[in-house]
Amino acid sequence: MQNKSVKKAVFPVAGLGTRFLPATKASPKEMLPIIDKPIIQYAVEEAIAAGIEELIFVTSSNKRAIEDHFDSNYELESLLQKKGDTAKLKLVQHTIPENIVCTFVRQKNPLGLGHAVLCAEHLIGDEPFAVILADDLLDTSKTNCLKTMTDLYKKHQYSIIATQIIEPSESSSYGIIKPQRGQSDNNFIKISGIVEKPQPEHAPSNMAVIGRYIFTPKIFNYLRKTKAGAGQEIQLTDAIAQLLKGESVYSFLCPSKRYDCGSKIGYLEATLAFGLKHTDLKEQFKKLLKQYSLEK
Ligand code: UTP
Repeated sequence: MQNKSVKKAVFPVAGLGTRFLPATKASPKEMLPIIDKPIIQYAVEEAIAAGIEELIFVTSSNKRAIEDHFDSNYELESLLQKKGDTAKLKLVQHTIPENIVCTFVRQKNPLGLGHAVLCAEHLIGDEPFAVILADDLLDTSKTNCLKTMTDLYKKHQYSIIATQIIEPSESSSYGIIKPQRGQSDNNFIKISGIVEKPQPEHAPSNMAVIGRYIFTPKIFNYLRKTKAGAGQEIQLTDAIAQLLKGESVYSFLCPSKRYDCGSKIGYLEATLAFGLKHTDLKEQFKKLLKQYSLEK
């Protein structure tokens, strides 16, 4: 039988984004811009560059702006057309290429990330799929971590979880993996356990799960049975812990710089880093930064 490729990606965007209130009271956290592009668009571009052809957004009631962002805006487009502003027209017309399928499904209650992924089950069927947490923004200028993961999947057909090394003191903010013993290479290793947000003294390693995953459809068997865990939410981590008892699950150590845009400081850092690289803005922005640091 031919090895399967990953062609579908789930974007769980139904979280409440409480760390960004009041900004997220009526608009989604994923629509916050880094310079001039919403966070979700960076994630979508990364997925398409990794070979994903079908994007499945798990949304909630106040996330309509995400749907609208990836739809056409007739009024705006005809206005820009009339003005002959082709540069801006291109920006609004090509948020998603023609050949990419976009589907939206609702998570009625924010019962947790695991539950959000489960809401996409009927759209995934018997296919492998990626899960992308857009608020973990990755710098793809040197390497596309998800592309490496989809290539690894094609070769090995195992579920793969992206990880990064963290300070031991930060373990209570992440899912932490337990690598199987006796593996010398850290980059692509078999996982023997995973725990959600352990205290440092209970963390099985310093390898933290970040927001990029590839799953075989077997994960749904476990998600359906997963009860609320840490934070009273249905945790994806708990379903992974069950999955790896039945089949191999690997960790891929992601080399990309990551910005945690779910937190205010991570969001600020991303804005700073992307501003310093922005073709039109970087020189002016550097001057501004210099000015502010001299004023201190
Ligand atoms: P977070 O832990 O960042 O939660 O969710 P959040 O609700 O978005 O933000 P805070 O903590 O209240 O500020 C991780 C990912 O899981 C999604 C979120 O949208 C985010 O992409 N999620 C979480 C759901 O889709 N549904 C849920 O019920 C919970």
